Amino acid sequence: MNFLAAAGSRRLCAMRAVFPYLWRGKYFSSGNEPAENNSVTPMLRHLIYKIKSTGPITVAEYMKEVLTNPAKGYYMNRDMLGEDGDFITSPEISQMFGELLGIWFISEWIAAGKNAAFQLVELGPGKGTLLGDILRVFSQLGSLLKNCDISLHLVEVSQKLSEIQALTLTEEKVPLERNVESPVYMKGVTKSGIPVSWYRDLQDVPKEYSFYLAHEFFDVLPVHKFQKTPHGWREVLVDIDPQVSDKLRFVLAPCATPAEAFIQNDETRDHVEVCPEAGIVIQELSERISLTGGAALIADYGHDGTKTDTFRGFCGHRLHDVLTAPGTADLTADVDFSYLRRMSQGKVASLGPIEQQAFLRNMGIDVRLKILLDKTDEPSLRQQLLQGYNMLMNPMKMGERFNFLALVPHQRLHGRTHQTNARQSKPSPSPVAGFGELAWR
Ligand SMILES: C[S@@+](CC[C@H](N)C(=O)[O-])C[C@H]1O[C@@H](n2cnc3c(N)ncnc32)[C@H](O)[C@@H]1O
Repeated sequence: MNFLAAAGSRRLCAMRAVFPYLWRGKYFSSGNEPAENNSVTPMLRHLIYKIKSTGPITVAEYMKEVLTNPAKGYYMNRDMLGEDGDFITSPEISQMFGELLGIWFISEWIAAGKNAAFQLVELGPGKGTLLGDILRVFSQLGSLLKNCDISLHLVEVSQKLSEIQALTLTEEKVPLERNVESPVYMKGVTKSGIPVSWYRDLQDVPKEYSFYLAHEFFDVLPVHKFQKTPHGWREVLVDIDPQVSDKLRFVLAPCATPAEAFIQNDETRDHVEVCPEAGIVIQELSERISLTGGAALIADYGHDGTKTDTFRGFCGHRLHDVLTAPGTADLTADVDFSYLRRMSQGKVASLGPIEQQAFLRNMGIDVRLKILLDKTDEPSLRQQLLQGYNMLMNPMKMGERFNFLALVPHQRLHGRTHQTNARQSKPSPSPVAGFGELAWR
């Protein structure tokens, strides 16, 4: 655990905001919130036109349009993260989060045999804060990585966020290369000299030995919603309210719809959300890891196939009705980790999901906090560190709601049980950092 002392030991990062900002894992049931903003947005006009032309749309289509429509999508042209945005995420709360993830990747790289090169691939990197913290750890532990050829690959659909990521990571010391027509739409070099490339789709990232990271990425992928009825499963659709012409409402499809195929035959809940796109991404990650090696670390809020209605919106650090003023608020649904594990089966081994508080504790967050506190007498910095720790670890805050899942090649576990679920039983010793108790040598 010398890593913990070395990781960024010379650097306490600038203040990061903590209170009173809202984290998206906060759960609530959609549909009952007062409308906060009734304006007819360009996205609402677009959706009304679409529904008038082709009929009610699925919640998945609604979510995809609202979030990532190239012209008007919520994620495409704004910075929604942090104080002036709509919500806050763990890397924006505390530098310790990214530092411990940086250590996880180095630890996996060492355990898997110190490959001569690796790609670090992040899905949905937000402002690039998490990668920035990880790279600082890579620099601090440069003696370990000095003979390793590292490159960064960012999968990001948002033009605006990719510009912010570029600024965070490269400070544009070397001019960026841009080509909107190409699958690699931007290229640059980080402050520490690591090449970085941007893609809109994971499929376009070179299939080389890689470590993959997805933090609060899967929860923005579109979900289909289904309600059990006396006539069987019926999909929830979005339609125009017949009473108010510029208002949307939920309706049930009159007959079966294709996405019903994603519901398990033995499903006992009466309302389910299914996310086929998450399955596609997990299958792609699993195939890549089984072919070329490496690992994936997925962190998000979610459940193990038990929750029902989790679709919700956030705007200006407040919960927001999902059908009101579309395009101005974030939309999200809890990640079904049991589905992610099912989709990875056969190709790779999965570890977790394990709660964030357990994962970070196993990674040594308590030691890291002490090291950082010992380095400063500045009261505001000390308070920020303690508040950040509390937000990440407190079971009433992000500690229990957020989970970590890892995908590793089967060989990595050497004949041990390939699937462990920390919720089911006392965790057995794990060869993968973070998924078993921290061992002091
Ligand atoms: C909730 S933010 C999380 C940001 C960051 N990982 C963090 O934790 O601070 C979701 C990120 O995923 C990106 N995103 C959303 N849909 C995407 C998609 N279909 N493909 C790639 N990136 C996407 C967003 O632009 C944003 O960067």
